[in-house]
Amino acid sequence: MSSPRALALLAKMTLAEKIGQLVMVAGTHTVTGPVAAPDLVLRVRQARVGSVLNLFGENETQALQNVAIRETRLGIPLLFGLDVLHGFKTIFPVPLAEAAAFDPDLWERTARAAAEESVEVGLHLTFAPMLDVARDPRWGRICESPGEDPWLGARFAEAKVKGFQAPPHGIAATAKHFVGYGAVTAGRDYAPVDMSERALQEIHLPPFAAAIGAGVAAIMPAFTDIAGVPVSAHPGLLRGLLRERWGFDGVLISDYNAIAELIHHGVASDLADAAALALKAGIDIDMMSPAYEEGLPLALERGTATVADIDAAVLRVLALKERLGLFDARRREMPKKDALANRRALARDAARRSIVLLTHREPVLPLKSDQVIAVIGPLAQAQRDMLGSWAAAGADDETITISESLRAALPNAKITFARGTAIDDGDASGLADAVDAARRANVVLLCLGEACHMSGEAACRAIPELPGRQRELAEAVFDIGKPVAVLLSSGRPLMLPWLFERAHAVLATWFLGSEAGHAIADVLTGRWAPSGKLPVTWPRAVGQIPIFHAQRNSGRPENPADSFTSKYLDVPNSPQFPFGHGLSTTTYAYSDLRVPESGSLGKPVDLSVTVANTGTVAGEETIFAFLRDVVATVARPMMELKAMAKVALKPGERKTVTLQLTPGAFQFFGLDGLWTAESGDFEVLVGPSADRAFLLFARIQLT
Ligand code: NOJ
Repeated sequence: MSSPRALALLAKMTLAEKIGQLVMVAGTHTVTGPVAAPDLVLRVRQARVGSVLNLFGENETQALQNVAIRETRLGIPLLFGLDVLHGFKTIFPVPLAEAAAFDPDLWERTARAAAEESVEVGLHLTFAPMLDVARDPRWGRICESPGEDPWLGARFAEAKVKGFQAPPHGIAATAKHFVGYGAVTAGRDYAPVDMSERALQEIHLPPFAAAIGAGVAAIMPAFTDIAGVPVSAHPGLLRGLLRERWGFDGVLISDYNAIAELIHHGVASDLADAAALALKAGIDIDMMSPAYEEGLPLALERGTATVADIDAAVLRVLALKERLGLFDARRREMPKKDALANRRALARDAARRSIVLLTHREPVLPLKSDQVIAVIGPLAQAQRDMLGSWAAAGADDETITISESLRAALPNAKITFARGTAIDDGDASGLADAVDAARRANVVLLCLGEACHMSGEAACRAIPELPGRQRELAEAVFDIGKPVAVLLSSGRPLMLPWLFERAHAVLATWFLGSEAGHAIADVLTGRWAPSGKLPVTWPRAVGQIPIFHAQRNSGRPENPADSFTSKYLDVPNSPQFPFGHGLSTTTYAYSDLRVPESGSLGKPVDLSVTVANTGTVAGEETIFAFLRDVVATVARPMMELKAMAKVALKPGERKTVTLQLTPGAFQFFGLDGLWTAESGDFEVLVGPSADRAFLLFARIQLT
């Protein structure tokens, strides 16, 4: 239902003013920050722009807002949006890293903090959370996603939407990229997508359904097509599923230039055609393409677009502006200024909870305080490269480097530094110095990985290994025989079997944000026992992709004694590290899984398990519950994540933890196109990761 104000405005609007509300234009980036170029100011004055992206700053946004409010006939305020994915000024870990914390409360708090900082600079909307289920480390955008699992993605969606939109300093969230973008062919960005209806329903849609359930304000369709129909012009998915079946009444914002790109896709012959297709499919706002402004008037003349569809889109845009309070003359109350220190503390906590201890072959952690530590590698003194791909207004010089933080954390240690090689340009002029530094040290910290621009949009890699000459550096250091702990910065799993074999310890340190260095020091010095776990299966080789825990069985499951079974000749089927893998400096023992023998379809099932801290330091453990429908009309995955819990344990302490499987956990997309649960046996698998060797099993019969 539109408000009287929105309806009254609509009644007064000319066609050009209506289309103006549907147009989103970008600010211009300059060395001093973003500005509204003269052309943008003029277009706002002419009421040809309804929203703006990539412009922020209290003064910058207010100046342009004044033009919209005071110098246009109807005075409709602008909406300002930006990609605030993992922080605005205080940068939190990239989403894939933060997902490794398996902590919805944390996800919500970091989104809330990011929203507060965004409000302070005049922003109203973020193009986040990114909810693409991603199972292909070649795809650079895997780092923006919460990983491979739809159930996890749904929890991430709820937490992020709640956090971003939390009153009183919330901003509108945009669930993106609807839908299936994570399945781009061969992991290449913007490439076509083909998938089954089952994959769409069971894997890619659930996070979006959860975002809508949490009240997300906006949705952004993906750049890509699905089976030949670009999502930006997909009436079945946008109008049919989102609007009509799911009842989503928020705003649909196109991706950048995506409507004009319908011409490249080969489904539109000109801008008017493209605009008509997108509007008909249900897109309200055209981000940065000329299609709506130039094409809609022509489409109306041709009879391929209707004023009724334009009006409906305008009303949705006005409703969002009203919901955000943009028409209220009263200025929004700003968050308290002293919040900054709390945000930095939150960023440090989020970052250390995101670190995953991948291997610990020899006890090198925690580091002793009175020794010579050589910090070697191109990421040791990096600042920008700690931040990750959407660093918004994160400042390089406010980012704590690894070597700097170690000096502060271990004042009695002698810390030396050598870069060794560049990240990726082939410069290895520092190799000899690095080897020398390693020789003189008691222990080496090898800081390797990707530059932050190597993960993210348009940052796909066919060979996701260490770039440049870093392998040479690592092998030279290993050859000396000193204890070596590797800190691996990346936005994706890197395929490095040789490294995992040779290093004493390897930690996935992703792109951890403004407090990266402090967080890493917390883990290295033992102030925080590593607790992160992988939200994505880590392959051994590119040829294994896609590899994920929720695979279905084969009619010929792998059998080493039988060649005609499902396997490779050259690589094992198993991943380098399974989903959920993550070691700690303490150890846990699982026992006493209790699951009722029987239950009723449509009712939740409670189960419990006892976890003991069998090591010598306090820690936090994430517990997973997976489910398998043993026999069904449709073959089901060998295991699917359906619940998780976290428990903090002191050394020697044990706790019994309860997890709940909701009625929905037992359902699948049935042959009749409806979600259904079938009676019969279900396997319940509970433990520290998707590695079957460490899972406790039970069976429940549902009738
Ligand atoms: C393109 C990206 O695909 C999308 O995620 C982002 O929100 C827009 N550009 C705006 O920057």
